[in-house]
Amino acid sequence: MKKILITGGAGFIGSHVVRLFVEKYPSYHIFNLDALTYAGNLENLKDIEDKPNYSFVKGDITDKGFINELFNTHKFEGIIHLAAESHVDRSITDPLAFVKTNIIGTVNLLNAAKETWKNDFDNKLFYHVSTDEVYGTLGQTGLFTETTAYDPNSPYSASKASSDHFVRAYGETYGLPYVISNCSNNYGQNQFPEKLIPLFINNIINNKPLPVYGDGNYTRDWLYVKDHALAIDLVFHKGETEETYNIGGFNEWKNIDLVKLLCAQMDKKLGRPNGASEKLITYVKDRPGHDLRYAIDASKINKELGWKPSVTFEQGLEITIDWYLNNENWLNHITSGEYKSYYQKQYS
Ligand code: NAD
Ligand code: TYD
Repeated sequence: MKKILITGGAGFIGSHVVRLFVEKYPSYHIFNLDALTYAGNLENLKDIEDKPNYSFVKGDITDKGFINELFNTHKFEGIIHLAAESHVDRSITDPLAFVKTNIIGTVNLLNAAKETWKNDFDNKLFYHVSTDEVYGTLGQTGLFTETTAYDPNSPYSASKASSDHFVRAYGETYGLPYVISNCSNNYGQNQFPEKLIPLFINNIINNKPLPVYGDGNYTRDWLYVKDHALAIDLVFHKGETEETYNIGGFNEWKNIDLVKLLCAQMDKKLGRPNGASEKLITYVKDRPGHDLRYAIDASKINKELGWKPSVTFEQGLEITIDWYLNNENWLNHITSGEYKSYYQKQYS
């Protein structure tokens, strides 16, 4: 059995990738390595936890000794690296946590892969999952392509940019086979309610204010998480090594327009009068260094690997809302404890 390590598999995107690989590839053994930080949740994988080709390993990618031993024991042939600190607002409060996990953690994994593979790189691959935020911000026009210069603005994007550079440097210096993808904003089932869409769904359910940063005229390109997982599958199996693939939804929304659409869909689902949820919109202090606009040119992955999103934004959003409404327990578990103090600090 081919042993594949997926890091961060208990998180939002990672859990969808783990499920896809466990179910689609019975000849792979999938090891899910996750430290179970506030963002990691094994409830995300309940339906597959007993599958014979799946193992969960609790551990921290910043722990060099532990990582080396894990690689020594299992001699993974492929790595799909998603573990990260992923929220921009938290990176503004605590940049060092992002340096530690996103940079040092990634370098630990690169070293362990290099040592384990010992220059026999045939049929090996280090796949680094990254973000479009490394490119910085766009003005009103233009798109990020794979050749756009890196220009990160937040501690989060700076740490992801740094980890991308390390991955590329290990390819150049040691010949480590790698591939990188840079994706736009994801949404869907199991996203931690600190990010815009699940935070606002949770607040609408609970009739709490919807804190729109600044004037709300910031633009993001949204992609349904399962379409990202399918793109990761394609890049892992068919992507060229030493290449980067941009992944995006061809789906730009100004925050305020997205929030109004979400409010309208939620009013229908909750049987509230049209316009009720919009009344919860509250403009709050802007995020420092807030990137104006992200938008991806995903034509390379489309032309070379035949990938494109499978659902429209309206469809994906409806699936997402239905999931949160039908999984109140998940939301209740997640929003107890640490979430309360985070929310208080961020929004009071
Ligand atoms: P997430 O915050 O939901 O999950 C991150 C996971 O990593 C959690 O399960 C957490 O427990 C784990 N983790 C954190 N620190 C760890 C450590 N030191 N050791 C081991 N595990 C650790 O993140 P996500 O939104 O699923 O993002 C996954 C990856 O995709 C990240 O690398 C992120 O940069 C990238 N990405 C995210 C988006 C997005 O919109 N969410 C878009 C593009 C790229
Ligand atoms: P977010 O989901 O944090 O993703 P990112 O910052 O990585 O793009 O935020 C998406 C957009 O929504 C971003 O422009 C910031 C904005 N936003 C708010 O207006 N209010 C909020 O409470 C949050 C979390 C985000």
